[in-house]
Amino acid sequence: MKGFSKRTDSIQEYYFSQKLKEVNRLREEGKPIINMGIGSPDLPPHPSVVDALHQSSSLPTSHGYQGYQGIPALRTAYADFYQSHYGVNLLADAEILPLLGSKEGIMHISMTFLDEGDQVLVPNPGYPTYTSVTKMLLAEPVYYDLKSENGWYPDFDELEKKDLGKVKLMWVNYPHMPTGAKADLKVLEKLIAFGRKHHIIIVNDNPYSFVLEDNPKSIFQITGAKEVALELNSLSKTSNMAGWRVGFVAGKPEWITAITKVKSNMDSGMFLGIQQGAIAAMSLGRDWYGGLNEIYSKRRKLIWELAEKLGLEFEKDTAGMFVWAKLPQGKTSDELLDNLLYNKSIFVTPGHIFGTQGEGYIRFSLCVKEESIKEAINRLS
Ligand SMILES: Cc1ncc(COP(=O)(O)O)c(C=O)c1O
Repeated sequence: MKGFSKRTDSIQEYYFSQKLKEVNRLREEGKPIINMGIGSPDLPPHPSVVDALHQSSSLPTSHGYQGYQGIPALRTAYADFYQSHYGVNLLADAEILPLLGSKEGIMHISMTFLDEGDQVLVPNPGYPTYTSVTKMLLAEPVYYDLKSENGWYPDFDELEKKDLGKVKLMWVNYPHMPTGAKADLKVLEKLIAFGRKHHIIIVNDNPYSFVLEDNPKSIFQITGAKEVALELNSLSKTSNMAGWRVGFVAGKPEWITAITKVKSNMDSGMFLGIQQGAIAAMSLGRDWYGGLNEIYSKRRKLIWELAEKLGLEFEKDTAGMFVWAKLPQGKTSDELLDNLLYNKSIFVTPGHIFGTQGEGYIRFSLCVKEESIKEAINRLS
């Protein structure tokens, strides 16, 4: 055995893959753990979505390999969804590629565009997968800081000062996880101008656009964005389908064809029943998202109460399914995490897993029932 690849040595097992083993061990020991860590919706999909899966999977003809670009009805459903919710026109047959969740899309996009030694702009704080995928491809993450005093938006003056010669891709994610900064069309417009000026592909990772947001945004609402940008979207959060693994990437035909070339060598399509469920999910109207947001909004108020009890500071005008809260000066996120986990059986996410700018913060998920949040508040009393 001559050892693992450089790419394996360049990364660590995903934080939750490790930490949830510890959380589950505590649970097995009988600890009444309240998990406010991960953003996996606890609510079910709409009944019509589950019905579509049932109906499809009961047919003998549903169980074979499916096409590499999904069934045409799925791509049409995605295109209709973009038209009706974002006012964006996408060509169903050329500008959309269904994915097994947007996480895998981060790998496919990176494999399509990056060579060893290329550089990638990665938000700090940001979703850890942008960094690990970049490293796995032996490319180099170049972090751009997001700061609370700048509304967690990029500082374009700072970006312009960087040596951008080797930068090929830039990861962007608004509404932003973990901070909850909302998508702002003026910022997206600046990002498109930045990408165009420096010949950098801007990829907006957009799984939270409907969560605690009445006016969902897409980067393609910016004129000319298709020349410069790709967008990932997902049914995980907005349709309560995280375990189904369904999302998609949209962009200009030439780029979608190239990503398909990579992806078609890695998996063999998506189960038909899941595609039928996704079609049903995308035909739901605004009342579906409104209903979810009523629930998330009540939960968020309770989480604010919990955060106040812990002496944390947080912003209220945010989108997405998390509360991002700042610890008092001098305290570390791991200290608070351990204190809550081992003394109160409450699991939260430490901010440092999202990058150095996340140290001194913790993230609470809203995927927790009101009763459990109330119970967590009681445990602090
Ligand atoms: C910012 C961000 N991007 C992508 C993902 C992955 O989502 P999916 O379930 O579509 O793979 C997540 C999941 O937590 C996320 O927070």
